Amino acid sequence: MKFLSLVVIVFSSISALGAPPPQAATCIACHGADGNPAVATYPVLAGKSEEFIISQLEKFEKGEIKSVTVMNSMVAAVKDPAAKKAVAKFYASQKCKARCNEAPKK
Ligand code: HEC
Repeated sequence: MKFLSLVVIVFSSISALGAPPPQAATCIACHGADGNPAVATYPVLAGKSEEFIISQLEKFEKGEIKSVTVMNSMVAAVKDPAAKKAVAKFYASQKCKARCNEAPKK
């Protein structure tokens, strides 16, 4: 039952603001379906600008962000610039619910 209601919540929030693009399939696990992660370990992506998200992804690719290294391999899922743009555009269009003024990772 708990799982079912979670599914309902996830799907109702997705249908409210559009479904995540297929390229975001891996990102969702950590950053959340709408860019508002359940756990504070992961940065919020909801409402961050498209330019910021793309530029951070490029920095992960080049290994320029070194605080937590997990993203350096995650970024392989959005190697293609069009994939970066698709996920960035999606997360930028989502509404930030908490931790909206977090400092960028570096
Ligand atoms: C296994 C968990 C995990 C997955 C999957 C994951 N991320 Fe991350 N992401 C993180 C963590 C942890 C950080 C913080 C990195 C740091 O502090 O160096 C991060 C940071 C980021 C940042 C920088 C945010 C900021 O405020 O500076 C962006 C952008 C990002 N991820 C996008 C993505 C995208 C797009 C995907 C899917 C292709 C993805 N992530 C998949 C864990 C994950």
